[in-house]
Amino acid sequence: MVWRATGLDEKRVAREIALDCGPCRSVLLMPGYCCEDAKLALEKGVVDEHSTVVFVERDPQVYEEIVRWVEREWSLLLPPLVYKTDLCDLKMVPTDFAFIDLFGNLTRRDWTWIEHQLVPNLMPGANLCFTFCQTVRNQFMQKVITVMEPKDIYKERLAALPKNIKGLARSLAATYQTLFEEGFLKGYQYAIDFHPYKNSTSKHAMLLMRLKNIVRS
Ligand SMILES: C[S@@+](CC[C@H](N)C(=O)[O-])C[C@H]1O[C@@H](n2cnc3c(N)ncnc32)[C@H](O)[C@@H]1O
Repeated sequence: MVWRATGLDEKRVAREIALDCGPCRSVLLMPGYCCEDAKLALEKGVVDEHSTVVFVERDPQVYEEIVRWVEREWSLLLPPLVYKTDLCDLKMVPTDFAFIDLFGNLTRRDWTWIEHQLVPNLMPGANLCFTFCQTVRNQFMQKVITVMEPKDIYKERLAALPKNIKGLARSLAATYQTLFEEGFLKGYQYAIDFHPYKNSTSKHAMLLMRLKNIVRS
């Protein structure tokens, strides 16, 4: 079944937070069937006539809908490059904003792509946003959580999280924070925050993670 974004108030708020990043030169989005983040990126001036814009979608039906939306609605001179592929197979160009709006959690293949494609192509001062499902079903992330939990840094990050990050969202936030700090973004400085929300159609509890102003230290 194709996931549709319409009528999801909490998702709209999460999208607003993700796209609160100012104008960007090179943007990667996963717009999905309704292209709501793409519409907002245009509205908020995150993309303008100077931006390189890349869309990625693996589902053929959703991909066709995104192409139709671009033909119908895209108001800027340069249209986005729309790739029908899995994110993990996307060759990145230098990027200063990516909204990795996933359905679930990171897989082993996502991990490799982040390490070898996304991070090496971050422009100085880049912003990254990820969404994760609060219920971790994939075995890879379950294993990562088991490895992280005994670490002192995980416990410190868990204790320092704001009080509004509760329950499963709290341990997931501490896991991803540790994973990025000790792994993908070791040697970088950035600000990080989290925003839990509900994807009310499927009743999934989700977590937005935002990494701001990423620069090499
Ligand atoms: C949550 S929806 C996107 C919603 C949209 N960003 C918004 O703001 O409403 C995720 C979309 O990405 C696609 N998708 C999920 N994982 C993917 C992957 N690994 N590679 C490519 N597309 C993926 C799904 O098919 C879906 O259309």
